[in-house]
Parts: sequence; structure tokens; C-alpha cells
Amino acid sequence: MFALVSLLLASFLAPEVSAVIGDDLNCTVYNGTFFVWTPAAVQCENTIADSSCAILYPTTDTLGLPAAGNNAGRPLACYTTATATPAAVVPDMKTAALANCAKTCGFCCQTDAYNCANVAFPRLNCATITKSQCDSVTWRTIIATDCPSACGFCNQGGCVDAVTNCANDLSICQTVGMQDFVNSYCQRTCGRCPSTTAASGTVTSTGSSGTCTSYTADTTTQCTAWAANGFCTNTFYTAAQRKARCATTCKLC
Ligand SMILES: *[C@@H]1O[C@H](CO)[C@@H](O)[C@H](O)[C@H]1NC(C)=O
Ligand SMILES: *[C@@H]1O[C@H](CO)[C@@H](O)[C@H](O)[C@H]1NC(C)=O
Repeated sequence: MFALVSLLLASFLAPEVSAVIGDDLNCTVYNGTFFVWTPAAVQCENTIADSSCAILYPTTDTLGLPAAGNNAGRPLACYTTATATPAAVVPDMKTAALANCAKTCGFCCQTDAYNCANVAFPRLNCATITKSQCDSVTWRTIIATDCPSACGFCNQGGCVDAVTNCANDLSICQTVGMQDFVNSYCQRTCGRCPSTTAASGTVTSTGSSGTCTSYTADTTTQCTAWAANGFCTNTFYTAAQRKARCATTCKLC
């Protein structure tokens, strides 16, 4: 009887695979023994409900879903139509997963908000930044500058609110007694980030009086968006940092 029940159970359960990440190694890091998920692999939210993602992208791994530091296999439907590994990546499957269930699939690091370069010499280790640091008033503005990819700040141009709920009450931006507060903590929501970008979108290069005729290539595709947010003239960044990222867009010799 017991044997029969076990047999029935076994045939109902999908074959469980032991933990290993293969086929598509994006958002993983080799820890000396295994490829494991980076914190940025799962830092974002799914676009649709987590419960829907769990149905669309079921995992057969005994470890469950990708989480920072573990090596649970990526749910197959996230990137392939095959039913076993090794499997070829099917771009359409991956595109759909990125758009809808990036967290469930461990693809957060490849979404637009997370897919940009960090500064060359960050003040903290970008690879180990945690979700609580991303929400922390102590860390947010530093991370936005040095490690935008770690917290999904790639489209923020280095300008984030230090606290996460400024937008709950936009009236504080105009409240007389709140100005010191919003200047320090709601820079983005209340438009208080330094921005001296000329209105037309053209950039006046203040930090450099050089007269070069060509510029070093930008090292990130975010420069246009950042320039619109005042990156090129934001003295929060050193001239060297601005030049290292967006020399062409900012016209820095
Ligand atoms: C990461 O994803 C891209 C496209 O989505 C793919 O071309 C590349 O091979 C992947 N890299 C790794 C290491 O799997
Ligand atoms: C690498 O990751 C695996 C899976 O999470 C873990 O069991 C192992 O201890 C890690 N190894 C090192 C050297 O950190």
C-alpha cells in the first residue's frame, strides 16, 4: 500500500531537478563552486501579480525560485520552450519573461532600470547591495550615484528621493515649513536635484574649458536621460566621474 502511494505521488510530481543554473547565466556570479544569483537578479518587482508569475513560470527546483545567493535553476519557461536542460534560449520567451515576471525569473538585472554601468570606483561594493539598502535613507542617494544598477536607479539620472514615500503627498513640496525636509529627502519628487542643463536639452560644459573637437565615447546608454536630469553639470559628481560616463553627451574634453 505504501509503495503504491509513493508511486502515485511520484508520478504526480514533476521531476525535481537538483539546483544548478545553466543555459542563461545572466544575473549570476560564480562563487568559487557554483553560479549563484546576485542580489540584483531578484531586486525588482514582477510587473504582473507574483501569483500569476508562479503559474506562468513554475519551478521544478527543490530550492524553489531564484533568490540572492542560492543556485536554484531558473524556471525553464523564463527562457526556453524546451522541457529539460540543457536548453537553447528562445528570445521571445525571454522577452516575455523580462516584461512580466523578471523577479520570478531572476532577470531583474537585465531590465532597463537595472541594466547600466556603475561608476568605476564606487564608494561601496555594488554587487552586495541589499534590498533594505535600496530603501534606506542613509544609502539611497549614494547608491543612485555610484551603483545605479544595484537598485534599479538606471533611469533616475542620479537623482532619487532619499525617502521612498515622498510622492504620497505632493503638497509637501509647496508647504512652507517643509522646505528643509524636502530639499534633503524628496529631491526627485519635488524637483530639487541640482540641474543646470539648458532648457533646449543642449548642454553647456562648465567643468571643462577645453576646446576639443571630438569626445571620448559615452560608456552608458543612459547619458541622454541623465543629461536631461542635470547629470552633466551636477557637481555632486566629480568632473572625472561625469567625463568617464558621458564625455560625448556632456561634451567634456
Ligand atoms: C545574457 O542574455 C543575453 C541576451 O538576453 C545573451 O545574449 C547572453 O548570452 C546572456 N549571457 C549569458 C552569460 O548567459
Ligand atoms: C556557493 O553557493 C552554494 C549555493 O548557494 C553554497 O552552498 C556554497 O556554500 C557557496 N560557496 C561558497 C564558497 O561561498
